[in-house]
Amino acid sequence: MSFEPDILGFACNWCGYAGADGAGLAKLQYPANIKIVRLMCLGRTEPNFILNAFEQGYDGVILFGCHIGDCHYVSGNIQAEQIIVDMKKLLDTLGLRGERLRREETSSAEGTLLANLVHSFRDDLVQMGPSPLKKEAGQLSQVQLTR
Ligand code: FES
Repeated sequence: MSFEPDILGFACNWCGYAGADGAGLAKLQYPANIKIVRLMCLGRTEPNFILNAFEQGYDGVILFGCHIGDCHYVSGNIQAEQIIVDMKKLLDTLGLRGERLRREETSSAEGTLLANLVHSFRDDLVQMGPSPLKKEAGQLSQVQLTR
């Protein structure tokens, strides 16, 4: 039985989201089952954003931000990477698999790369199978972005 993973993406305004915009403008195809939430910077990412996404039934979470050294707020992407490392360990401990969480670096001019990364993540999630917390189609709730 095949399944299509539900993916939640977080993208910084300046590079990740601009790259996704660029992919759209260039009419590049990437899986429609990703929803992208725009943050000003990946440094705004909080662990509960990620946990809440999995609790709501998403199969994977991917963060798109500026390349290291290019963050518009100096070090937000480095802070996000530390959160990712910690959250991957927690996901492994919870039996959800840390590989369901990924951070990628894309510039605003790398829409093609972003589209390819979404395809690759989707394919990896298909290999992993549904999240143990997966909900029935159409039952995904709003992810809470509050503390
Ligand atoms: Fe893009 Fe900080 S502004 S990661």
